[in-house]
Amino acid sequence: MDYIDKLRQHIISTISQERYEHTMRTEQVAISIAERFGYRRELLSAAALWHDVARRWSEGELLDFIEKHKLIALPYEFENPMLLHGLAGAQLFNQWDSQMPFDESEIEAIWRSIRWHTTGHVEMGEPGYILFIADYIEPGRTHLSDDDKDRIYSLPSLQAMVRLILEMQFSYFSTKGVTDIGPGRELYEKMCRECSP
Ligand SMILES: [Fe+2]
Ligand SMILES: [Fe+2]
Repeated sequence: MDYIDKLRQHIISTISQERYEHTMRTEQVAISIAERFGYRRELLSAAALWHDVARRWSEGELLDFIEKHKLIALPYEFENPMLLHGLAGAQLFNQWDSQMPFDESEIEAIWRSIRWHTTGHVEMGEPGYILFIADYIEPGRTHLSDDDKDRIYSLPSLQAMVRLILEMQFSYFSTKGVTDIGPGRELYEKMCRECSP
């Protein structure tokens, strides 16, 4: 059995049915975007399968795990501990005892993708963009219309897709009166600088 099959079995036995279904849909969308932009599908499968492995942990469990493993989180994440499931998932990916069919740079890319899928971050990398987009637009998501999902999906670059998602998130946050939107702000500003003439 290869790594992805073993991982799939591991994830099925670890998370709820509902979370697993979201994970599967995220994986399918991530693979389709990966193929379109020339990334290896196994890389995105691994990132998607791991991304929400700690999503249902309590805030206490997440904080204990971060402390136990001496992981470095952002103040923004400590203020919103549910976000720590990205860092916890990245650590679980690192410590899972199975032979990985990835080279060092791919392992790093998967780690960054899982690590930053919650907020977006300037260091998340293009595979990280793919996971971030797929997690946001997978067909089971009800927070945006099919037209909006199609609009995001049909944009010509990963950067344009992430930028639009961040804009949508910022406007959602502002309707809730939230002004601190975490590291996604720096990513957005960087992307805007890079795309301006
Ligand atoms: Fe998540
Ligand atoms: Fe997710």
